[in-house]
Amino acid sequence: MTQSNTKVRENWGSRIGVILAVAGSAVGLGNFLRFPTQAAVNGGGAFMIPYLLAMILLGIPLAWVEWTLGRYGGQHSHGTGPGVYHRLAKGRPWAKYLGIAAIFAPTVITFYYVYIEGWTLAFSYYSLTGGFKDAIAANEMSSFFSGFIGAESNSYFHNHTPAIVFFLIVFVINYFVMYKGIQGGIEKLTRIGMPILIVCGILLAIRVLTLGTPDPAFPDRNVTNALGFMWNPNWSALSDVKVWLAATGQIFFSLSVGMGCIMAYASYLRKDDDVVLSSLTATTTNQFVEVVLGGSIGIVAAAAFYGVAQAQSIASSGSFSLGFITMPLIFEQIPFGGFFAFVWFLLLFIAGVTSSVSLIQPAITFLKDELDLSQNQAVTIMGIVNFLVTAFLVFTIQWGTLDEMDFWAATVCPVVAATIMVFFFSYVLGIKQGFAEMEHGAAIQVPRIFRFVLKYITPTYLVVLLVIWISTEWWSVVTLEKVADSAARNWIWGARAILAAVAVTIGWIVVHANRAGKFPQITEGKR
Ligand code: PFF
Repeated sequence: MTQSNTKVRENWGSRIGVILAVAGSAVGLGNFLRFPTQAAVNGGGAFMIPYLLAMILLGIPLAWVEWTLGRYGGQHSHGTGPGVYHRLAKGRPWAKYLGIAAIFAPTVITFYYVYIEGWTLAFSYYSLTGGFKDAIAANEMSSFFSGFIGAESNSYFHNHTPAIVFFLIVFVINYFVMYKGIQGGIEKLTRIGMPILIVCGILLAIRVLTLGTPDPAFPDRNVTNALGFMWNPNWSALSDVKVWLAATGQIFFSLSVGMGCIMAYASYLRKDDDVVLSSLTATTTNQFVEVVLGGSIGIVAAAAFYGVAQAQSIASSGSFSLGFITMPLIFEQIPFGGFFAFVWFLLLFIAGVTSSVSLIQPAITFLKDELDLSQNQAVTIMGIVNFLVTAFLVFTIQWGTLDEMDFWAATVCPVVAATIMVFFFSYVLGIKQGFAEMEHGAAIQVPRIFRFVLKYITPTYLVVLLVIWISTEWWSVVTLEKVADSAARNWIWGARAILAAVAVTIGWIVVHANRAGKFPQITEGKR
């Protein structure tokens, strides 16, 4: 027995528990803020074509792969990329380093995601206490938001204290859940959180869809036209490569696939647990929440209240503007608005926290598996790092540091990490063995066509995406061509230095674990 096998690995308490946890990871701020704005600016109904295609050719197959590799890794005491790939490649020395991307992405996303979660909790609080009730014009609400996040000092906020206080509260909540572990922490949280989230979402969707014509002085501004704006297809959008990149990016982000979160979660499954149906159930839940609920709240309400032209400009100013500026203004104009604003921000908060715990998990799993740290030690270390990097973001957000981290961790890295993941599944393990592993204990069969998809289509799709991205945007982004302000350039380089330090640290831990015998030669000829 190797050293690591002597430790008993935690397990999920039930099948519904793990499904809700993965669905909780997927259903996040992305569903309610990112999806509607992306769809609205990228062709409306036409956006759904690349979106559905990406879901079928990338999202669903990658989720199956990630669940499968996670459960497989867990059987060998590894729940993250380095250990899993090392074993799949029968101990080839390079394999373990390819796993770094799948720890890097979720860990870096954590740094800013938890911070934004703090905003949602703060705004739920302000909804109840009337914190922004005097901000009735768009520019006032916008100042309120900018002041709160510390991007500017104004009559609403003079310093960062409120943002820091709410960050600390969500920070403590997140790490308390992590400290309690898989069953006692994450499973409990998502079992309670997910039903509340769905109820809040349905309530808000019904409220928005029954808005009718909010202002009779503007008969054009009504729910029917708003839905038309959101969903009428603009077919010409399909010839724009940006629309395809956006749809694919949304699928990745929304389903939380390819980044190592699902892998870490699935490593706590039992050997015979189903992965095929469970994965599909979690995906379906996310898609329902995203398209049906996410697609009926934000932008639809904005278009019903302010008309289509204005909604277009709201959507192009980004998800935060919709969520934290437009929505509060709308709620101020409807009966019981304070209550609905509270429900809206509570919904975002719950969606956020059930996702952030999944973003933190790969780092914890990695530290425990590869350095033999205890739960407490691993949670404490990740907590300290999270705290420090988020503190950097709190004070530098106005220079674009948060966007920079988001770009590398949530746009570039997932595609790279997913390409590596599917390479290991389809080519290192091989489709035949891979499917045998996937279908072990499965409650349903995977349609045969997905063997072809996973061998040829998914990898090609991913590589094409990378090539298009590198050839169109790479250089101007890397050299910060579009950033004129020199202070911003310095801070963005600072953010990049932090990202490099995170990647190097993960690499160093892999080297260290290797020396400690965590990645032994696999000689028995079997994985
Ligand atoms: N899926 C989450 C959302 O839609 O907000 C965010 C997320 C969670 C992304 C976990 C990636 C991840 F690994």
